[in-house]
Amino acid sequence: MINQKLKASAVALVLAAGAAATAGAAAASTAPPGTAGGDDTAAAGSAPEIVIPDLSEYTIGFAQVGAESGWRTANTQSIQAAAEEAGVELIFTDAQGEQENQVESIRQFIEQGVDLIAFSPVVETGWDAVLLEARDAGIPVVLTDRAIDSEEEGLYVTFLGSDFVQEGEWAGEWVLEEFADADHVNIVELQGTTGSAPAIDRAEGFRNVVTDERFEIIASQTGDFTREGGKEVMEAFLQSNDDIDLVFAHNDDMGLGAIQAIEAAGFVPGEDIKIVTIDAVHDGMEALANGSINFIVECNPLLGPQLMAIAGSVLAGEEVPERIVTIERTFTQEEAAEALPDRQY
Ligand code: AHR
Repeated sequence: MINQKLKASAVALVLAAGAAATAGAAAASTAPPGTAGGDDTAAAGSAPEIVIPDLSEYTIGFAQVGAESGWRTANTQSIQAAAEEAGVELIFTDAQGEQENQVESIRQFIEQGVDLIAFSPVVETGWDAVLLEARDAGIPVVLTDRAIDSEEEGLYVTFLGSDFVQEGEWAGEWVLEEFADADHVNIVELQGTTGSAPAIDRAEGFRNVVTDERFEIIASQTGDFTREGGKEVMEAFLQSNDDIDLVFAHNDDMGLGAIQAIEAAGFVPGEDIKIVTIDAVHDGMEALANGSINFIVECNPLLGPQLMAIAGSVLAGEEVPERIVTIERTFTQEEAAEALPDRQY
C-alpha cells in the first residue's frame, strides 16, 4: 500500500505546506475584522500553491456531505480537479446530508480496499464504529473541512480545514465594531446543520466575543446551511419579531435566503437589518459588494490540492501534522468589490 517511490521532496512539500498553513492561521487569529488574516494574505481565498504528487497507483474514497451550498459545490470541484491532476482513482460519494449514507460509503470504501479514505463529516459524533473498522483494515483516514468529536484515539491521521471558532469570533468582532454606539442590538442567528462542527463552533466563537449585555440573541434556529432553509427561518423570525437589527448567518447561502425574506417583508437588507455571514462564495461576495450583506468571514473550500499532497505523504509512510488549518480572511463591502474579479469560487 505504501509507495516508497514517492519522492522525499514531495513529502517535505506537504509538511512545509501544512506548517505554513498552520502558522498562517495562527497569525490570522490576531488579525482584526476587515483585514486579511495572516502573513501570507495572497493565499487567502485561493488554492494554496502546492505541488500535487503523482498518485496514479492509488485509489482514494471521498465521502462528501452533499451539495447544500455554494461552498460545498466549490469544495467538491476542488477535490475532483486535484484528484484528476494527481491521476488518482477517486471514488466520490454524495451523502445528501445524511450521516448514515456517509457511514455506508465508508464501509463500501473499506470493502473495496481503497488506499485512503477522506471525508467531511456531516455531524461531529457517531463515527467511532466505522472509523475503527477502517483502522482495523489498515486504511488511513483524513478528515477534510469538518472535525469529529470522539474519545477514541487514532481514528484519523490528520484533519485539514478551517478554524470555525475563529470564524465565529471574527463575525462577532465586526458586530462589536459596527454597533459600538448602539444601546441595544436584537440579533437573530441562522445556524448551520445541527450537530455539525461549523454550526457548533461558529455559534461558540460568536458568543465568545459578543458578551456585552447590550447584545441580545433573540432567536436562533437551523437553516441547514441552505438558501431555502435560511429564507424559511428568516420569514418565521420576521413574523415573530418586529425589531431585528442584525442577522448572523452561519453561511452565505442562508444569508442570501434571509435577504429574500427581508425584502419580501418590506425591509432593506444591509440597511434596515444588517447581515454578517461566513464563507465568501461568489454569490455572497456579490451581495456584499452591492450592500445587501455587510460583512463576510471567509471559509476557504479549495482543499483539493492540500488533500492530494497530504495523501501523498500518508501513502509514502511519512508523518503529517495532526491538524492543518486553512488560511482565511474577512471582507468588508469595499474589499469584496475589489476581490470579486479574481475570485475563484
Ligand atoms: O463545513 C463548511 C460549511 O459547510 C460551509 O460554511 C457551509 O456553506 C457548508 O455547507
